[in-house]
Amino acid sequence: MDISIIGSGYVGLVTGACFAEVGHNVICVDNDHRKVDALQKGKIPIYEPGLEEVVHRTVAAHRLRFTNSIEDGVDHSQIVFIAVPTPPQLDGSVDLTYIERVAREIAGVLKEYRVIVDKSTVPVKTGEKVAETIRRYNKAGVDFDVVSNPEFLREGCAVSDLMNPDRIVVGSNSDRALALMKKLYEPFMAPIMVTDINSAELIKHAANSFLALKISYINAISAICEASGADVEKVADGIGADKRIGRSFLNTGLGYGGSCFPKDIAAFIAISEHLGTPFTLLKEVQNINRAQRERFVKKIRDTLWVLRDKRICVWGLTFKPDTDDVRSSVAIDLVNDLLREGAIVQAYDPKGMQKVVELKLCKGALLMNSAIEATENAEALVIATEWSEFQDADFEQVSNRMHTPIIFDGRNLLDPATLKELGFRYYAIGRSSGA
Ligand code: UGA
Repeated sequence: MDISIIGSGYVGLVTGACFAEVGHNVICVDNDHRKVDALQKGKIPIYEPGLEEVVHRTVAAHRLRFTNSIEDGVDHSQIVFIAVPTPPQLDGSVDLTYIERVAREIAGVLKEYRVIVDKSTVPVKTGEKVAETIRRYNKAGVDFDVVSNPEFLREGCAVSDLMNPDRIVVGSNSDRALALMKKLYEPFMAPIMVTDINSAELIKHAANSFLALKISYINAISAICEASGADVEKVADGIGADKRIGRSFLNTGLGYGGSCFPKDIAAFIAISEHLGTPFTLLKEVQNINRAQRERFVKKIRDTLWVLRDKRICVWGLTFKPDTDDVRSSVAIDLVNDLLREGAIVQAYDPKGMQKVVELKLCKGALLMNSAIEATENAEALVIATEWSEFQDADFEQVSNRMHTPIIFDGRNLLDPATLKELGFRYYAIGRSSGA
């Protein structure tokens, strides 16, 4: 089938590449000329395992190409995806400016029937507005359908998530559009769940909120574990073994971050208030998430006492491992907390350093060339992101390099017994026996 995808960010680019991988002809459209130029030269603007290979392979097979022209995309495809950013506004609601603009631009070039699919994460009822906008701005009165098809891929394993989805949600009230969507997704051999447009939009916000709720739930339990002498890892295993609960997303840590959960939870709260049915539970999810990092910083302060002029090594800056994404990263917030208190921060991340520099985050932190170099003369080592490189580090060497062998493990990545044997004072989350 012939597909175009407007917006070549994380979701747009990975979706386009994977559609091409299964045999469709895909045009990825973006209004950023530099990005399109780079993509045309084979340069991938994000780090995502496996993506580069898929892009290179499908471009070489002439099934994937890049352009700046929406008209080019719309003219040469049966299905047009919208995958542009939906950034947050100050009050938590979503800025739908990009979606609205793309809807108008599609309307301006629409010459024959197309299925317009909203892939971006949007508040419920956005599809109605997109359809209304296209109808209003398409002077020729061309027939079209709007479909909601939310994406559930995770950064860091986006390609494999997209190639092996648990389910595909398609919100539509048109048999014609549904037939095309089913054909498009046939190669993925996953269950297709058909709903109305509003329900599909809600599924996305409800899914992300539920996952964030699970994380905040276990983080709240971690605080009770610390206060009572229990071990949160054992509690998570114990409750997670119940199939109704499940073990995934019960990993305690410094809290959730990234470009999705914080934004989507705020947006879901905003839309629920707008609809007159405030979702107050989610406010508590946000509070617990904030408190988790604050409690961790307090633990560092309680142990090291005054942080001013203390040399602290921080391993990990990305919002989670296997990505170079540092947007809304709790690790970055933590570094800034330490810097505010006057600490000298020596930070290292396997993939996120370039983005930290580009976005001018953690101003004042010393960005080091390697994990081991970052520990030089440090009075404490903080693990903020659970990269496997940190798990596999040579802790004897780390101990020799450090001024005082103290570890604050914000992701419960390491084995307390091994570190204790090596002479470390080790503090984790929700494990009172960690010290
Ligand atoms: C999330 C969802 O998992 C995807 O299904 C969704 O498609 C995506 O948002 C989106 O809306 O685009 P992502 O933000 O890439 O994906 O990352 P996750 O793996 O969900 O992690 C989010 C945050 O939660 C990270 O900061 C991670 O460290 C944290 N987390 C995750 C925990 O603290 N504990 C856990 O058990 C799991």
